[in-house]
Amino acid sequence: MKQEILFSGIQPTGKIHLGNYLGAIKQWIDLQDKYNSLYCVVDLHALTISQDPQTYGQQILEVAMDIIALGLNPKKLFIQSHVPAHAELAWYFNTLTPMGEMARMTQYKDKAQKNANNVNVGLFDYPVLMAADILLYHATVVPVGQDQVQHLELTNILVKKFNNKYGTTFAEVKPYVTKAAKIMALNEPTKKMSKSLGDAYCLYLNDTEEIIRQKVSRAVTDSGPQMDGQMSEGVKNLFFLLELLGDKKVQTKLLTQYNDKTIKYSELKNAVADSVVNFLKPFWAARTRLSKNPKAVLKTLTDNGKRVAKIADKNLAEIKKKIGLI
Ligand code: TYM
Repeated sequence: MKQEILFSGIQPTGKIHLGNYLGAIKQWIDLQDKYNSLYCVVDLHALTISQDPQTYGQQILEVAMDIIALGLNPKKLFIQSHVPAHAELAWYFNTLTPMGEMARMTQYKDKAQKNANNVNVGLFDYPVLMAADILLYHATVVPVGQDQVQHLELTNILVKKFNNKYGTTFAEVKPYVTKAAKIMALNEPTKKMSKSLGDAYCLYLNDTEEIIRQKVSRAVTDSGPQMDGQMSEGVKNLFFLLELLGDKKVQTKLLTQYNDKTIKYSELKNAVADSVVNFLKPFWAARTRLSKNPKAVLKTLTDNGKRVAKIADKNLAEIKKKIGLI
């Protein structure tokens, strides 16, 4: 049987946070050899927010180095703008996309509100480019966090519309979502950890140990275990991070203390900070090694882009034929 194709992407909008890792990149790494996998730094998507041309290239490379240092096979990663077919396919999809579907997108509404001075057409069209990223390779498996699921629903609407109009071409995509699909902010645990909220809300992979300990120590908790045994959002969030990254024994011990109402939240926070720091130590070491030779990383990404572009161009040619272009 032919191996299913996996595609996923991340925007080079700055630093990668623990939500990006636990919600998506961890799955990229876990699944990279299970599927025919392609991973992309989506530099065209990130242009929907104003980027500084002086530093943007470096920013793209930094994110790529982060992902490789986390354990992704460098051969599987490429830069979106190196494969022009993504943007071309997005145009064909634009002509099939109802405005109404796009106006419903919660991420668009959210981002438009946060960047009221730069609500550009690209921001509106963003999910169509995302559909093109995926369908250009006939990918069906897409590991993402919860906030991208609505975009994948739109992708499936486009699958149906294209197939109905031009004949069966694309298969439906399946979001690959885990229980870590929505990591919350430590200092406002009802909100998702997100760069757009501000640095204090995110545990960045490249934060120093000191900053991580400081951010975790400032996490919101409550006045102590409640009589009804219901955990507050903040405490739940700390236990969840411990479950995802920590030592099982420590987690069980602290949970017992919570139920006995003998827990000290300072100990819970220390345990969470330890687990994050222990997880990050090998990453920091690998990242330092990679940073010594960014040119080699760029060369790999560029070579990958050339290889991927051949597949993309071939697929695009077939799609154009279906549309009737000559
Ligand atoms: P981006 O760059 O915003 O985020 C990258 C991935 O991280 C996930 N994520 C989270 N997961 C759990 N908890 C959080 N707090 C959290 N914050 C972010 C995101 O869901 C995402 O999976 N549109 C995409 C990039 C993209 C893409 C694609 C993804 C472009 N084309 C094609 C898949 C397939 C985005 O902006 O992700």
